[in-house]
Amino acid sequence: MTKKFFKERFEGKVAMIVGVGRGSTKEAAVRMAAEGADVVLVDIVKEHLEKAAEECRSHGQKVLAFEADAADGQKTREIVEQATKELGKIDILVYAAVPALPNMKKGPLRPFHETTDEEWDREYAVTLKGFVSAVKAVLPCMRQLNYGKIVFVATDAARQGSTGQSTDGALKAAGIGLVKTLAREYARNKINVNVVSPGPHATPLVKDQIARDEFFRKIVDGMTKWVPLGRMGEPDEIAAATCFMASDDASYITGQTFSVSGGLSMF
Ligand SMILES: NC(=O)c1ccc[n+]([C@@H]2O[C@H](COP(=O)([O-])OP(=O)(O)OC[C@H]3O[C@@H](n4cnc5c(N)ncnc54)[C@H](O)[C@@H]3O)[C@@H](O)[C@H]2O)c1
Repeated sequence: MTKKFFKERFEGKVAMIVGVGRGSTKEAAVRMAAEGADVVLVDIVKEHLEKAAEECRSHGQKVLAFEADAADGQKTREIVEQATKELGKIDILVYAAVPALPNMKKGPLRPFHETTDEEWDREYAVTLKGFVSAVKAVLPCMRQLNYGKIVFVATDAARQGSTGQSTDGALKAAGIGLVKTLAREYARNKINVNVVSPGPHATPLVKDQIARDEFFRKIVDGMTKWVPLGRMGEPDEIAAATCFMASDDASYITGQTFSVSGGLSMF
């Protein structure tokens, strides 16, 4: 697929992207920079951060990159304070951080009975509490601007279940619930709050797991067979939806969960 940028869509905007990663969220950050936004990137993994920052900078925008744990609310407040000092404001928040589980050797998917208390605590801290902290940190600025776009990146596993995804399915579902209340509470401040909910797509992590994890491969193969569009998605196809939701093209949409899954899930 050839990337098509809407050159000025994000001109003058500042976007904060938490859990920028290597896949669809990184592609969204790069699209936003290509379309005129200055970006504030946050990730716990330096390598992911540096690669994303380099790609965003290649479009000539200002880029601030913070290696940080999104579960650390104090750190998030400091990042927002520094970013607003340097870039003037934050118009857009995209939150996509998901924890790398401690025993990733076994792959990110596992049956519920194998999940540990530690994994549940970390999933809560990164997927949900980190989102809460990020929203709290950017809200004062957005309310003052009387403008804002907040996009929570969930998963369709949160809405219809998916074998091996009890932890992220449950906590992303909580995030979807929170988004609906935020959408109602801050509509008066012209802040749109929405969810982009991907189905399986071919990120570097997914490709890597398909190559080395039998359980993972079986689940993904099984799901892909049921995708009406007949294939897995590409990261940039998720990014396109994230950027739409973060843009003024979505000005009359709030509190919604937007599936990007080739039709695998239809709600
Ligand atoms: N890949 C898929 O098929 C798929 C399907 C459905 C939903 N999603 C969702 O899409 C989003 C992006 O997925 P991806 O596969 O591109 O993931 P990714 O691994 O490329 O990105 C997630 C990033 O979060 C970072 N992170 C982990 N813990 C963190 C923390 N404590 N603080 C800050 N950053 C932290 C990781 O380092 C990683 O860079 C995620 O929210 C994921 O749940 C992905």
